[in-house]
Amino acid sequence: MKPVIYVTRRIPDEVLQPYRDSFEFRMWEKEDVPVPRDVLLKEAASADGLLCLLTETIDHEVLTAAKNLKIVANMAVGFDNIDVEAAREHGVVVTNTPDVLTETTADLTFALMMATARRLIEAADYIREGKWKYWTPYLLAGSDIHGKTIGVVGMGRIGEAVARRAKGFGMSILYHNRSRKENAEQELGAVYKDFPELLQEADFVVSLIPLTEQTSEMFNQGAFKAMKSSAIFVNASRGGTVDEEALYDALINNEIRAAGLDVFVNEPISPKHPLAGLDNVVCLPHIGSASAATRTKMLELCLDNLKAVLNGEQAITPVK
Ligand code: GLV
Repeated sequence: MKPVIYVTRRIPDEVLQPYRDSFEFRMWEKEDVPVPRDVLLKEAASADGLLCLLTETIDHEVLTAAKNLKIVANMAVGFDNIDVEAAREHGVVVTNTPDVLTETTADLTFALMMATARRLIEAADYIREGKWKYWTPYLLAGSDIHGKTIGVVGMGRIGEAVARRAKGFGMSILYHNRSRKENAEQELGAVYKDFPELLQEADFVVSLIPLTEQTSEMFNQGAFKAMKSSAIFVNASRGGTVDEEALYDALINNEIRAAGLDVFVNEPISPKHPLAGLDNVVCLPHIGSASAATRTKMLELCLDNLKAVLNGEQAITPVK
């Protein structure tokens, strides 16, 4: 009997095809709706491997129900949706998808910085809404990006890739991270700062930090108050790193100038979300790694991890 892999969302058949000889795939057949919890619990009970998304919470309950489970392959680099400690206790390997999404996510992060600074969404809406009558000296005037200072919070692979783009724009680069990054300091001239210093000095504060107990709501009222009133805050990591009420207050009280957000505390958000209603906020539906090519690579990496572990080999990209 072939090992059973449960896939928690419909994914293209061409991606699965090369693996069909080795595995029996079962799948939640909807593409745009997450698997209901009761279905996940039932399917996990007979699965040897799980290919899941960040929309699934993999906790003690799932791991207890999944008696044969050997691996959870998460289609994301972040894995805050998985109780890694509980997985370890159950002898289940957890893998993520680093590297393959680094440059794509850095592209989106930089695009979000630029869209927010230069008010691109407001500007496009200006035409759609029939408001463009004349060219005027300060029409939709925003902030420059070139020559400014970026503060990267979380100088992992994506942070460094964003910093490389910033260097190309002639920006000064500050960073804050758990450990010093000598390479980035030498190659990019990135300067390490403690968190309060970075907040005070950066024109663009960019969150690329994983969500953990330590980083939960690290962008809080105090952090926004420490930023320049001209600062632009960008979050392309996890919504939970931000106290959204504090961010909203900082924006409406002009304590910072604008925000670009690809992630939120509770996703999806509706148009009624307070941050979605502000003109100086660009909200995106968590599309950091969403190029078609990269999404396919992420799925393939998940499947290669599943194949390795279910063949008794080391996972390719286990989480630490
Ligand atoms: C997406 O948010 C990811 O962690 O890959």
